[in-house]
Amino acid sequence: MCGIVGYVGAKQAQDVVIEGLRRLEYRGYDSAGIALAHEGSVVWDKRPGKLANLEEAIASTPLPASTTGIGHTRWATHGAPNYANAHPHLGKKGRLAVVHNGIIENFAQLRAELEAAGHEMVSETDTEISAHLLENEVAAGADLTTAMQNVCRRLEGAFTLVALDGADPSRVVAARRNSPLVVGLGEGENFLGSDVAAFIEHTREALELGQDQVVTITRESVEVTGFDGSPAEGKQYHVDWDLSAAEKDGHDWFMRKEIFEQPRAVADSLLGRRAADGRLQLDEMRLDDAELRDIDKIIIIAAGTSYYAGMVAKYAIEHWTRISVEVELASEFRYRDPILTHSTLVVAISQSGETADTLQAIRHARMQRSKVLAICNTNGSTIPRESDGVIYTHAGPEIGVASTKGYVTQLVACYLLALYLAQVKGTLFGDEINNVMDQLDDMPGHLETVLSQAENVYDFARAHVDTTSVLFLGRHAGYPVALEGALKLKELAYIHAEGFAAGELKHGPIALIDEGLPVFCIVPPRGRDQLHDKMLSGIQEVRARGARTICLAEVDDDTIEPYADTLIRLPKVPVLLQPLVAVIPLQLFACELATAMGNDVDQPRNLAKSVTVE
Ligand code: F6R
Repeated sequence: MCGIVGYVGAKQAQDVVIEGLRRLEYRGYDSAGIALAHEGSVVWDKRPGKLANLEEAIASTPLPASTTGIGHTRWATHGAPNYANAHPHLGKKGRLAVVHNGIIENFAQLRAELEAAGHEMVSETDTEISAHLLENEVAAGADLTTAMQNVCRRLEGAFTLVALDGADPSRVVAARRNSPLVVGLGEGENFLGSDVAAFIEHTREALELGQDQVVTITRESVEVTGFDGSPAEGKQYHVDWDLSAAEKDGHDWFMRKEIFEQPRAVADSLLGRRAADGRLQLDEMRLDDAELRDIDKIIIIAAGTSYYAGMVAKYAIEHWTRISVEVELASEFRYRDPILTHSTLVVAISQSGETADTLQAIRHARMQRSKVLAICNTNGSTIPRESDGVIYTHAGPEIGVASTKGYVTQLVACYLLALYLAQVKGTLFGDEINNVMDQLDDMPGHLETVLSQAENVYDFARAHVDTTSVLFLGRHAGYPVALEGALKLKELAYIHAEGFAAGELKHGPIALIDEGLPVFCIVPPRGRDQLHDKMLSGIQEVRARGARTICLAEVDDDTIEPYADTLIRLPKVPVLLQPLVAVIPLQLFACELATAMGNDVDQPRNLAKSVTVE
């Protein structure tokens, strides 16, 4: 949510900053802006709308040469997405420029104080006050680093601030509290970014910053301190993906590329999980077996798509371990005063590792002495850093705003966690665990098989370009998949889409069925608990009322043909693992329908990739 870039080096800062913003634009695209240090002051440009507007403006009226700069791409919080509210924001003398991600909660009080002292604000943002406060500090003799430390001690809320003083082009200074910021370590140049994508084409060496830290980058140095000025150290790490992972690679959308990367992402997330003796190993998890053996309740917290991964996890963990699992929306969790003890394991699922709702939920859980385990795709992000343990998914960078490979790799991590707990608790025998692991190892191939039907799904999507409503039905582990299919469609096609547990139909939703309404039906595999047959009855009920049924059923399921207007075949997999294959056609459908409708699939309206405000 908001992308931030900073640069000091020998290259043209304008090029580095704009390129960085291009790679971060998925974080917000309400406006974009850039500020450069030039001859003792700041030169800048900013435009409402997408980054392309700023690029166009700079192409026609170039900014002067400079090797020190900052940039911003905005997801609006305080103030409309217009010119005045676009970043950078400047102090009253125009010497300092600031970009910001997050929310400064006490800004109204600080703004009133500044206005009373004669400062005139030109925007409705909470950010602008920080530029004025920094300017006051610098005018009183502080260097930009000290000024930032002093100002940050006065701010409440969540923020990443990056500031430039035109009179001191040797440095860019940044600070973070509850909001992401990483440093890129170059040779004769250094970078700042909301995530490593901002500078990955220049360096793969990064420095992770802690909470409440200020960082000063110059060409040759990176200096970290606390808000009180005390020396601090970041944690250096190597980014193990390269620029090609942040490119579209011939696809029209990042999302489509990421859908097709899923077999590889699942394979990578399974890699190295079996020890030589055949036992499951989750090396990076950091929680020891004795601690896990004591767990008597699990609460999974997450938001959006990650929450739906958590719902699938509940089925798997309860079935394999007999530990009771609750799944909770992160934004609701701490407000209901949840019952947490030292034997509760809280599992936080987050692709970005920066979602504010999830972060606040884990902080609440840790204050109540519960252990927190993160399932996360982003190395160095805040949620794993603040958790007791982590299982990293290996999806690689997910840039399309709608999560796809992030979701399937979260499912894999949830299955691994469930199996590991079963191993520790002894609720499954070794060969049972091995059997599921073998089935998981077959998944990349199964995903390829489903993806090979993409053209059929695309044809179907294009034929439904005028659709205004779509329903999704599932049962058991297929129910969260139905919810995920509906979410993908809402996000991308902006149409009414709802997912239901098929058994609930008769309790109300069946009234929505109308002539020709498309209804996706995720049919469970045959042979367990009558799930399949019950689903079949549900399909017949909606079809009898005029719905057009699109059935996702396993490859040799011939019972379904009479009731399916369209049939998409899924490989034969156990019911608990079926979400991995069943979600693919729903992702393809949403991506293609949105494309056919002329929507921007990678940057859907009103959304941002990483939601760093509550
Ligand atoms: C939907 C989507 C969002 C995220 C949610 C949580 O396609 O991407 O619903 O799943 O904002 O994000 P993370 O997983 O980064 O915490």
